[in-house]
Amino acid sequence: MAQGFTVWLTGLSGAGKSTIADELARQLRERGIGVEVLDGDVVRTNLSKGLGFSKEDRDTNIRRIAFVAQLLTRHGVAVISAAISPYRAVRDEARQMIGNFVEVYVQCPLEELVRRDVKGLYAKALRGEIGNFTGVSDPYEAPEHAEVVVQTDHESVASSVARILAALEAKGYLTPVRQAVEV
Ligand code: ADX
Repeated sequence: MAQGFTVWLTGLSGAGKSTIADELARQLRERGIGVEVLDGDVVRTNLSKGLGFSKEDRDTNIRRIAFVAQLLTRHGVAVISAAISPYRAVRDEARQMIGNFVEVYVQCPLEELVRRDVKGLYAKALRGEIGNFTGVSDPYEAPEHAEVVVQTDHESVASSVARILAALEAKGYLTPVRQAVEV
């Protein structure tokens, strides 16, 4: 049976976690691998419905995602988690629980996130209309030992995904794709 693993994307809202998760999922499926994406926004509409954004609620949200990721990983699934997951200690808990784990820091400067502001949330947070907003009025603890760091303000999605796939291959979780040899 194929070896399961979890790719744990972490980074601020709007940095590009969901976009990278979707493209990574697409490319893994193309290789015939079973994939599940656990996206923060989606998880919060069902498994974590009712949770807010206090440290306690965020930690609960992340522990739930890690619990599901652990079960799926154990059964050979390629899991992609895409939640802000701002606290280092709980990300490290997830790493310990899951085992086959690749942490990806999806990095983007705050100025660029404010400029993009896809959901309009940064403008509201800066006006004080949303409290405890990560990166503005709530902490984000950047990873210190992420396997991959992607910088979405000056790196394409394709390049970010290629580097994540290379890290998975280097760890032995994924078999490198053989290029067709021309004869
Ligand atoms: S986490 O901190 O618990 O990992 P998660 O990724 O599930 O967060 O949810 C983040 C999403 O919730 C953001 O992309 C944004 O759309 C929304 N959101 C609403 N309020 C906040 C807030 N105070 N801080 C961060 N994100 C918020």
